[in-house]
Amino acid sequence: MMRLLINGAAGRMGINVINSAKKSGYFDYIVGIDKYAKNKKFEIPVYCSTSDIDTKEKFDCIIDFSTKEALYDILPYALKTKTPIVIATTGFDEKDEKYIKEASKSIPIFKSGNMSIGVNTLISVVEQVSKAIGSISDIEIIEQHHNQKIDSPSGTALMLAKAVEDNTEISNVTNGREGIVGKRPQKELGIHSVRGGSIIGKHEVLFILDKEVLTFKHEAEDRAIFANGSIEAALFLSKEKPGLYNMRDIIK
Ligand SMILES: NC(=O)c1ccc[n+]([C@@H]2O[C@H](COP(=O)([O-])OP(=O)(O)OC[C@H]3O[C@@H](n4cnc5c(N)ncnc54)[C@H](O)[C@@H]3O)[C@@H](O)[C@H]2O)c1
Repeated sequence: MMRLLINGAAGRMGINVINSAKKSGYFDYIVGIDKYAKNKKFEIPVYCSTSDIDTKEKFDCIIDFSTKEALYDILPYALKTKTPIVIATTGFDEKDEKYIKEASKSIPIFKSGNMSIGVNTLISVVEQVSKAIGSISDIEIIEQHHNQKIDSPSGTALMLAKAVEDNTEISNVTNGREGIVGKRPQKELGIHSVRGGSIIGKHEVLFILDKEVLTFKHEAEDRAIFANGSIEAALFLSKEKPGLYNMRDIIK
């Protein structure tokens, strides 16, 4: 049995991770952290920050679905206590990414902007199609999310863009278009972010050829897909050496 710490426990994903972790039967002790946990009721103990955790407490893994800023509380804690961490939060900048990479020299870190099997399969498909017809296609990505999402484009859209960039000569990624931008250069990749209502996450990649369009699409129907993926990642990570891992290390 394992001991799990969930960062961002009061959030949409945090609550899903608590449910998935309980259902999985792998954990006999589950604790959460959430900056805004005060005066709220939870099924598990939830602290407001890592400084509230008793120094004698030990965890086998941390799962983080929180915010970019929270990284600077949870990652120092993971390093100090040598605890493997699954980072599922998105919206990091270059400095954050560098910090995560550096930390992975000391502890096992699993990081993915999307924890679902479906999206990671979509990424493999996009890599193959980009290789085959990327040079003759206009490629566009459309992502849709709920109106509470704070980062744009989505972490998944950026992963899909990387799958295109790594397999074509495209390096110019544009987030939306506005004004008299001129004709579309062929080596451009457009990303478009739709925000509204309660959409969990939809991603479409369009390969637009002359008189024909190929569309590859993934639609998340339940946040449990990301939560279950993060549990799989936590189990995987508990047996690994320090390093930076992602979904490719699980889906082989
Ligand atoms: N990798 C994936 O598969 C995947 C899937 C869905 C969402 N996400 C990402 O996970 C993150 C969370 O998504 P969400 O929909 O649950 O958001 P949310 O806003 O519902 O939850 C975030 C939680 O983090 C808490 N928080 C804020 N600052 C904190 C801090 N300093 N320390 C601890 N907790 C803090 C908030 O109080 C909130 O409860 C986002 O970055 C989102 O893009 C990733």
